[in-house]
Amino acid sequence: MARRLDPVELLATSSVGKAIARSSVGRSVATRMGVPPADELRRGITRPVGKIALTEMGESDLVGATLSLLDIDPVLPIIDTPSARMPGENGRSVPPVYESRLGALVIDLSGLRSFSGTELLRGVLRPAMKGLERSGRVIFVAREPESYTDLEPRILAQGLDGLNRTVAKELRGGATSNLIWVKESTTPQALASTLKFLLEGRSAYVDGQSWRVGEAEVPLEAVRSTHPYHGRIVAVTGAARGIGAAIAHTFARDGAIVVCIDMPTSGESLAKVANEIHGTALQLDITVADAGERIAAHVAGRYGEDARLYGIVHNAGITRDRMLANLDEKAWAAVIEVNLMAQLRINEALLDGRPGGLADGGSIVGISSTSGIAGNKGQANYALTKAAIVGLVRAQAPVLGERGITINAVGPGFIETDMTNAIPYLQRVVFSRSNSLSQGGKPVDVAETIAYLADPASAAVSGQVVRVCGQALVGQ
Ligand SMILES: NC(=O)c1ccc[n+]([C@@H]2O[C@H](COP(=O)([O-])OP(=O)(O)OC[C@H]3O[C@@H](n4cnc5c(N)ncnc54)[C@H](O)[C@@H]3O)[C@@H](O)[C@H]2O)c1
Repeated sequence: MARRLDPVELLATSSVGKAIARSSVGRSVATRMGVPPADELRRGITRPVGKIALTEMGESDLVGATLSLLDIDPVLPIIDTPSARMPGENGRSVPPVYESRLGALVIDLSGLRSFSGTELLRGVLRPAMKGLERSGRVIFVAREPESYTDLEPRILAQGLDGLNRTVAKELRGGATSNLIWVKESTTPQALASTLKFLLEGRSAYVDGQSWRVGEAEVPLEAVRSTHPYHGRIVAVTGAARGIGAAIAHTFARDGAIVVCIDMPTSGESLAKVANEIHGTALQLDITVADAGERIAAHVAGRYGEDARLYGIVHNAGITRDRMLANLDEKAWAAVIEVNLMAQLRINEALLDGRPGGLADGGSIVGISSTSGIAGNKGQANYALTKAAIVGLVRAQAPVLGERGITINAVGPGFIETDMTNAIPYLQRVVFSRSNSLSQGGKPVDVAETIAYLADPASAAVSGQVVRVCGQALVGQ
């Protein structure tokens, strides 16, 4: 059950209250009451403030070479060793600190094979825990556990997941920690889009997560492109508002021609979004039997018979929340239709090679949810469909990989939209702060993660579910 919030906490979590809590008087009251104001997160295409440090453990130069592809010249981090500690006022030694605060600490663990080697890891992490700039980054890159046949490196690679999640929980000031597992065959070009995303403000609300980068041929131009979707057509369902509208805007910023799809009843706001980004609007209830055919026909009709979709983002989703004891047939069916079955039918039609369908080498992104991953009281129907999306991307990634198509999903946590505005106030306050960043995410945070996953430079990322939840306390 949700714990009761005292009035100051309530004040500090509303938007007006947050403004008060950020003021000097408000901050001191809030701090005395134990309610820290949420940190302003660094967002957008922004590199970390401060230097980027790189530690390499082992012979691999994967991360160093990837950073140099991104024109980043890293510095060496300070390592905490007993001899490097300064005596503190009380005679106890204190860990070393960086001369200036770091923007990011990137740790290449692809050569780490034994637990005895983790002492160096501790030594590098310890000074970083208080030595990062606001919205700083810790990024671990390690070989995926399955790539080892020996027991110790294999379980060590898995253990890094717990370390990463703990670092994420201990960091302050909007800083995040994430872990990327790679294959032995992963190249710097295949890894570059992920490292770039994690360093930039685009990943502001992705925290404590781990996912995998595999292998793919990624041209250098794709890695370096500032408009990766230039000339590519991307369809977004549920684009009239909320997360969908943010996705449409983000793809357009990155050069895409966006087909904005939503219910005929949302026609006006849909047209507004499409006009703002010079895309086209398609009024369509995605649950109609021929929705996929109609999307393809729209693409071929507007952009020519030879035109193909580069990507589709299945964002449209609904909730019909009731405890199972009260959940009727209609609410059950509606959620399964919109959140899952429509998506399956659309994919099938778009993948059959028809004009206006999905091109080989393209990308599909779906939206799961922390509710699906962790389960949530009153959301049995919703959780069923959102966990099924995880199953969908995992099952389809190897099949679609044969056509060079990637399929991934994001798992948003608490994102401030009309959908979450419908949650009763007290619950909303508790949900929005129950994560390591102590705040709700913005639609743009989800949009940026989707744009990263669908990026042609992310061809080596498929079958992944990336949670965008500020490391929500619920779920994995
Ligand atoms: N907001 C959150 O915190 C959150 C968290 C986890 C997952 N999600 C998921 O993110 C997605 C977007 O969520 P949101 O908060 O922006 O929701 P929203 O309700 O604000 O917007 C959803 C959009 O989808 C459209 N839509 C619904 N049914 C449709 C249909 N049959 N055909 C065409 N369009 C349809 C709606 O008209 C609306 O414009 C959903 O899949 C949702 O489940 C949201």
